[in-house]
Amino acid sequence: MKNQIIDNLKQYGQEHLLTFWDSLSGSEQRELLNQIESIDFALLAHLYQNRNAPTELLTLANRATDPPAYKFSTVTDPTPCKPRKSVSVQAAVSAGQELLRQGKVGVILVAGGQGTRLGFPHPKGMYQIGPVSGATLFQFHFEKVLAASQHYGCQIPYAVMTSPATHHETVDFLEQKNYFGLRKEDVFIFCQGTMPAVSPENGKVLLHSKGSLALSPDGHGGMLAAITKKKENEISILDRLRQRGIEYLFYNQVDNPLVRICSPEFLGYHLLSGSELTSQVIRKRFPTDKVGNIVEADGRLYVIEYSDLPEEIARQTNSDGSLKIWAGSIAVHIFNVALLDRTSKIATSLPFHIARKKVPFIDIATGEIIKPEKENAIKFERFIFDLLPSAENAVVVEVDPPNHYAPLKNASGSPADSPETVKRDLAAMYTGWLRKAEAVVAAETPVEISPLFADSPESVMQKIEKGTVFDKPTYLQN
Ligand code: UD1
Repeated sequence: MKNQIIDNLKQYGQEHLLTFWDSLSGSEQRELLNQIESIDFALLAHLYQNRNAPTELLTLANRATDPPAYKFSTVTDPTPCKPRKSVSVQAAVSAGQELLRQGKVGVILVAGGQGTRLGFPHPKGMYQIGPVSGATLFQFHFEKVLAASQHYGCQIPYAVMTSPATHHETVDFLEQKNYFGLRKEDVFIFCQGTMPAVSPENGKVLLHSKGSLALSPDGHGGMLAAITKKKENEISILDRLRQRGIEYLFYNQVDNPLVRICSPEFLGYHLLSGSELTSQVIRKRFPTDKVGNIVEADGRLYVIEYSDLPEEIARQTNSDGSLKIWAGSIAVHIFNVALLDRTSKIATSLPFHIARKKVPFIDIATGEIIKPEKENAIKFERFIFDLLPSAENAVVVEVDPPNHYAPLKNASGSPADSPETVKRDLAAMYTGWLRKAEAVVAAETPVEISPLFADSPESVMQKIEKGTVFDKPTYLQN
């Protein structure tokens, strides 16, 4: 058997993967074989050969203009947006509410990242971020889905994507927490795929141990393959959602507890503009803000990652001083299920991006583990937002960070996107909701509202009497 595998691997110059084969136990050999068999070596060779090919995104940046956009009703910045088609706030809210009542909306959470920058040794969703309650990111998200289900009298299905790095711990945690009140049959936890890390010098796949390859999650774009994959005797996640009548998927990342899951206004702009993919954006705070830039070129929308946008283009301004490329993606989208279905059948829908990373590996000559001090590996990832150019009538919705966006990315003590800044921003948002309801919140007093108590400023108004005083840390929950 070994010779046969070697012959296959030799075609692609990867026979070094069996260097330690004879020292492995039977089960280790089987495990290694499974990993090898799951890899498309022809694709890997192609990606490696094209690793330095100039990406189309660079030429795109030169002819990019701003995308058609709606302004969410909480945005106070007066800079006008150009929608494709005029839609009033009221019409959007009503249309979105109707979609929810009809049970046509599902939700998907991507939680497969390794959270390296945060330095938390568990899935990021398990991080306790509630400024008063200590609720985890998962609790925020699950309670928002439950709140929307209760609010609109439907059972919203919730798909949660993990990766091999986060799967088992996530499954155990969510089960132990009883899915925070959602019914088990409404929660679909599934694991994304992986891609091997290769050496930049020769394209050879790195070994993580003598009997395993250095594999890492294939990017949040791996979602497309993962939700459309059919396991033996089972239909795909997307087909299960379709069977339940789902036509739209609200998508968000695990790191942002401010996200308004299933916002009717957002859903309404999507529906009434006839868009197949709608994304939330914030007005970039400065030219090099670390968010993906959504732009229009040749009648299609694209995301140019901050790392790929030449600084001189990022700095260009309009005559009123505002940034030409202003729309920063916060990775909150609505996908038409039909778009996901159609693009999943086209192999090139999502290109691979390459990233140079530090990856510990086994030295083939000595069998020792090497922990590199500088980048020694190329990783390949797909990004789900690369579906934008395939979508008809794609559009963006400008939202304001205080009410929509405070992501947890960095370790404690970092100046931005850290546990301290996210807790601060959460408490500030809830303070704003209470003050809008004419409650009195004492300065420096953190308040927090469970999504099950109220999921919008409007629902706070219905529950809190004018003049109610909050002068000590408070968590409002049912
Ligand atoms: C991401 C976006 C950026 C956007 C910003 C908003 C990318 C490449 N960039 O940046 O355009 O402005 O968020 O906050 O996505 N994930 C998986 N599987 C993976 C990799 C990631 O599920 O294989 C999930 C993570 O769990 C996380 C999300 O995707 O929920 C974002 O990943 P991350 O690598 O943190 O992206 P950012 O660089 O923060």
